Amino acid sequence: MVKGLTLGKADEDAQRAAKQSSSVELLVQHRALEVTRHRIAAGKHFYLDEASEWSGFEFLYVIRGTLTLSSGEGKTAVHEGEYLHHHGLPERAYFRVDEDLELLMVSSPPSYHLVKDEIQEIMALARSVEEKDEATEGHCHRLERLAIRTGERLGLPGQRLIDLSYGAYLHDVGKVRVPDGILNKPGRLTDEEWVEMRRHPEHGAAMLREKSFLRAAAQIVVSHHENYDGSGYPHGLRGEEIPMEARVVSVVDAYDAITSERPYQVAGAKSKAVQELRLNAGTQFDPRVVRAFLSVIGEDELA
Ligand SMILES: [Fe+2]
Ligand SMILES: [Fe+2]
Repeated sequence: MVKGLTLGKADEDAQRAAKQSSSVELLVQHRALEVTRHRIAAGKHFYLDEASEWSGFEFLYVIRGTLTLSSGEGKTAVHEGEYLHHHGLPERAYFRVDEDLELLMVSSPPSYHLVKDEIQEIMALARSVEEKDEATEGHCHRLERLAIRTGERLGLPGQRLIDLSYGAYLHDVGKVRVPDGILNKPGRLTDEEWVEMRRHPEHGAAMLREKSFLRAAAQIVVSHHENYDGSGYPHGLRGEEIPMEARVVSVVDAYDAITSERPYQVAGAKSKAVQELRLNAGTQFDPRVVRAFLSVIGEDELA
């Protein structure tokens, strides 16, 4: 090798990382400069932070995939082979990933540890609940995807979609604080056990509030079992008192619970779930959210 020249192979974690819906790898760090590779699945949203007083620099090169930048001036598509760079944004810039994305990012000063920590934090939380609650395997991922699409249909802006994706993904994380015997009990729960079980939204919100970037998601998590007519828990909120994002999670959660209950009978389960949503629109569910959701899953004619 030529002196002073380094050849690296960066993807020791690539196999594992590719299976996750988001991952970031640090390729090179030198003084205040950092090169990272990001993989983000289609349908996800992310942002670049505002930093008008900041003297740094960020460069993004699209290796693979496409994304859309939303700003006050409208939407701009960014394709494979194109790049963006900035040295201080007056406001956060929001992106939607349209096709599975691989990005090379050069930034100064480094921000890798921040991004990495956020992703790891979320993965660890989600894993903890998937390990404990047998019923949630794959559920969190499906919920996140459907919730984002419903939120987009309802016109929620970038930051709220990002918080919605965290809230949906982590909606039942509080179940890790519910005793195993109750969580996976095969038979009916007693009244006392139900009381314990119904504490999971508040447990989850308390866990998320510990991280500043998950504080907005905590508001969604605490309200995901509130009902539109005020009959839900923990606070009996009604209508617009319930955050829109929580009303979305409630609809998507009910749908996924029914459709994954009988995976061997997908068509039947889907129509049963759609029927359930329509029947309870206006009582358990916000009718506007139900309509948006049905259009997302291609059942608008039934709305
Ligand atoms: Fe829940
Ligand atoms: Fe759920």
